[in-house]
Amino acid sequence: MTTLPKPGEPANGESANGEPATDEPTNAIWTAIGGLSRFASLAAFADLGAADHMDGPLTPAELAARCGADAAGLARVLRVLAGMGIVASDGAGRYALTPSGETLRSDAPGSMLAAVKMNASPEFRYGYGHLGDTVREGRSAFVKEHGMIYDHVAARPELSRLFDDYMTARAIPHRRAVAALYDFSGVDTLVDVGGGKGHFLAAVMAANPHLRGTLFELPHVAEHARKYLPASVDVVTGDFFADPLPAGADAYFLASVLHNWSDGDAVRILRRIREAMPQDGRLLVLEYALPDEDRPHVGLDGDIRMLAMFDAGQERTHAEYGALFEAADLKLTSAQELPAGTTLMEARPTG
Ligand SMILES: C[S@@+](CC[C@H](N)C(=O)[O-])C[C@H]1O[C@@H](n2cnc3c(N)ncnc32)[C@H](O)[C@@H]1O
Repeated sequence: MTTLPKPGEPANGESANGEPATDEPTNAIWTAIGGLSRFASLAAFADLGAADHMDGPLTPAELAARCGADAAGLARVLRVLAGMGIVASDGAGRYALTPSGETLRSDAPGSMLAAVKMNASPEFRYGYGHLGDTVREGRSAFVKEHGMIYDHVAARPELSRLFDDYMTARAIPHRRAVAALYDFSGVDTLVDVGGGKGHFLAAVMAANPHLRGTLFELPHVAEHARKYLPASVDVVTGDFFADPLPAGADAYFLASVLHNWSDGDAVRILRRIREAMPQDGRLLVLEYALPDEDRPHVGLDGDIRMLAMFDAGQERTHAEYGALFEAADLKLTSAQELPAGTTLMEARPTG
């Protein structure tokens, strides 16, 4: 039975005058719990494909009729999304997409639909839902149940495409920044190792037309990538632990790959690249570099995703990346934090 506050008695998280009590110690907890309702609303909106039906302001009943949903439930979801700035109401009971909401259209350039659906997938829910077990046992409950995510998605073509589209959407602000901020003038050949659909390569090559690019990926991802990449991009398939990497390129690029692996495996990947690169070559690594001090950082969310979904996957600090490079006979020569929160690190062979 729910106990309502007596008249004059403050409700949860409210001061006596009904205003949110900013010093209420439970607020931080309720904010986190509320995140579940907000994400569930977003996931339901994505699941219904609702954004594709919103070509102008619509009432919840009109939108529900278009996407085959219950009007009352959808009205409540829209009300939450309005509070999140994903839709906006016109004051007359109709809702329209905001610029954030527009990114949930399936045909939006770099649509965020796959990012929402992958995070709402049974796989990710399992990983997040069993984080307590993961922390207790020191081993990803997801990996224990389903195996390595890359093997899991390889056997499920639809999920694999969703994952690759998620990576592509996730990379948008980062690839723009890499293409705009790094000087590729001395680089004629670039190999993107574990480059997903080759979205970084495509952005860097568009900004640097002199560049010749090669994508190195697992076969099932490469097959997906070929449909999107310009024909001028070479695609080489293989496993970066076992198969030969394209040798002799001026530069190698490794984005959001090391964070999936333990220190030992990360060093193995770096060593494979070190062996393939010429003595005057360079390696560009794009990852979240975690701050040393306690402060919010987008990489900390990523770190929990790595903890949940990978065995020994982790975001690292600058110093930790420096140590990985050193162990692979590479030295960190520059590091630049990009506006989207990732850090572009350049490493060169030692000796
Ligand atoms: C987190 S995704 C990053 C994709 C892309 N670099 C980006 O930043 O958007 C990691 C990529 O590594 C690839 N990968 C995983 N294991 C691999 C292996 N053993 N050999 C080659 N690629 C692998 C995956 O297919 C995936 O595309």
